[in-house]
Amino acid sequence: MSVILSVSMLSADFGQIERDTKLVNRSAADWFHLDIMDGVFVPNISYGFPVVEAMAKHAQKPLDAHLMIVDPDRYVERFQKMGVQYLSVHYEACTHLHRTLAHIRELGMKAGVALNPHTPVELLSDILEGVDFVLIMSVNPGFGGQKFIPAALNKVERLKEMILKKNPSCLIQVDGGIGTHNATSLIKAGADILVAGHALYKGGNVLGAIESLKSGI
Ligand code: DX5
Ligand code: ZN
Repeated sequence: MSVILSVSMLSADFGQIERDTKLVNRSAADWFHLDIMDGVFVPNISYGFPVVEAMAKHAQKPLDAHLMIVDPDRYVERFQKMGVQYLSVHYEACTHLHRTLAHIRELGMKAGVALNPHTPVELLSDILEGVDFVLIMSVNPGFGGQKFIPAALNKVERLKEMILKKNPSCLIQVDGGIGTHNATSLIKAGADILVAGHALYKGGNVLGAIESLKSGI
């Protein structure tokens, strides 16, 4: 399987959401990555339902929502109704993670678990069979445009070994500080899905930046 590129819409212009969503439709990218922040689990508030609905209305590629919120169970159904296909919740935000993942799957979505940089992948050992993808945070969640934390590479390698033993169909997603400088080493370590925002939007030529990242992976 070729590596999936999921574009973080956090770096898009929300005043031009239709234009920026259609731009990703036309690009070489595979998915839309939607970063939902509540100002409690992370020290930032991003965007909520009206913006997700506006993007969903125009998006022609799968929506991958990353919930950086406490008690995400409250909103799982709402995201499914908006057309989200890949939904990740944070390990650190779920008291009953097994139940939350089962709920996501029952609603027909793929269930992901996101891990903060300090959370060891080994903590997933008893739950990996019920997980469709694991999101390794390679920055502290809350903001786009941060510097990649190199320890994420080793976490991907360790997770890949666990996945091969326990659930080979589980995918590994990596999120934060990703660009052409580190994409190849992440894939070599075992990453299946790369999220990128800042690296794609910073230069102004979004389509070109997507093309060059995608063609190198
Ligand atoms: C950070 C978010 C990321 C971020 C992408 O909390 O989860 O998705 O926007 O990172 P950059 O902008 O570094 O590519
Ligand atoms: Zn994210």
